[in-house]
Amino acid sequence: PFDWYAEMRAEDPVRFDEQREMWDIFRYEDVDRVLKDHDAFTARRTREDNEFSSDAEDDTGMLQTMITADPPEHNRLRGFVDERFQPGSIREYQPRVEAVTEDVLDALAGEEQFDFVDEFAIPFPVTVIAELLGIPAERRDQFKAWSDALIARPKNGTQTEIQRIQQERQQARQEMSDYFTKLVAERRGGDGDDFITLAANTEELSREEKVGFCILLLLAGNITTTNLLTNAIWSLEEQGLTDAVRTGAIGRKQVIEEVLRYRSPVQSLNRIAIADVELNGKQIQAGDAVTLWLGAANRDSEVFDTPEEFRPERRPNRHMAFGMGVHFCLGAHLARMEADVAMQQLLERFDRLDADLSNLDPLYSLYGLKSLPCEVNRTA
Ligand code: HEM
Repeated sequence: PFDWYAEMRAEDPVRFDEQREMWDIFRYEDVDRVLKDHDAFTARRTREDNEFSSDAEDDTGMLQTMITADPPEHNRLRGFVDERFQPGSIREYQPRVEAVTEDVLDALAGEEQFDFVDEFAIPFPVTVIAELLGIPAERRDQFKAWSDALIARPKNGTQTEIQRIQQERQQARQEMSDYFTKLVAERRGGDGDDFITLAANTEELSREEKVGFCILLLLAGNITTTNLLTNAIWSLEEQGLTDAVRTGAIGRKQVIEEVLRYRSPVQSLNRIAIADVELNGKQIQAGDAVTLWLGAANRDSEVFDTPEEFRPERRPNRHMAFGMGVHFCLGAHLARMEADVAMQQLLERFDRLDADLSNLDPLYSLYGLKSLPCEVNRTA
């Protein structure tokens, strides 16, 4: 999509797409403005065309979670948990994330070839979130099956396939919702440091909202992190930088920021105008839907030098991969730490990764790869 973004940024940066009946916004400055202006643009969803979050809405039975709420409602839904996602708290989780990484890598022991997506990038974040929610280890497989069902997308698009996926999704939702309802009730008054206990004990949320919060964590944090990890290995191998990161010549944290900018896992967000607004000379009217192309904003030459180049050394790197404004990703620090720990351990275990980039099959709605075959050498 990147050529198209460049063309649109230059020629028609705020344009109405007649087919989809919505606005597309491509420049950094404009995307930034819309995301920060919650008096003029709402995050509530009355249309279902945002893949990233429409599920969250359905899963909780049209119940609102923070991601589709506007201030001041948004503050109520997010405030109770914000602190627990700040860098200080995230540092405390690091040893547990390291242990999860080791487990997932141990499961690969002995294999010379594996699919990085299926064998690492998918199970790793699901297991981390299960750990932080305090899901007992014996339920983790079930947990992964639910999140698989929730994110499943049709492969061949036949009617029967679509029906089956919808049915399975519906069933997973119901089971998950029942399961979280039970855990929230059980943990009320408890003193555990897991997120379910935290939600169970807050006075701010209704019982349904607590369940909605648990499901949101699962939906918002998994496939995005899967794609960040995959896009990181893809980019390092493509750019020939894997060894430079292994030796420390290039910092992991900087690489992660550049991957977020260059191959943003979330390429677009949606909002709906609730006031008439002029944007870059165009009149957007209350009720109009807008798509904000984060992936295009993150390659805007007004903000980034040589934006089409992968350059981990860029500083500052003011990308918008985690959004902007009040909805700035709750899990941003967690995702960064997960990627850092994962990359460190991967590069420690394998002195060669050899990702096969000859047959890439990118997914665009949430930007990543379906598979990334790797052939590895274990360090002695
Ligand atoms: C919000 C991206 C990982 C939880 C967002 C938004 C973006 C984003 C762009 C803004 C949505 C909007 O404005 O409509 C990402 C990316 C990730 C990632 C690229 C990984 C690389 C995570 C993780 C978690 C998480 C690991 C939780 C464990 C959330 C939540 C929100 C959110 C709860 C809603 C925040 C709010 O509405 O106030 N994320 N995310 N995300 N993210 Fe993430």
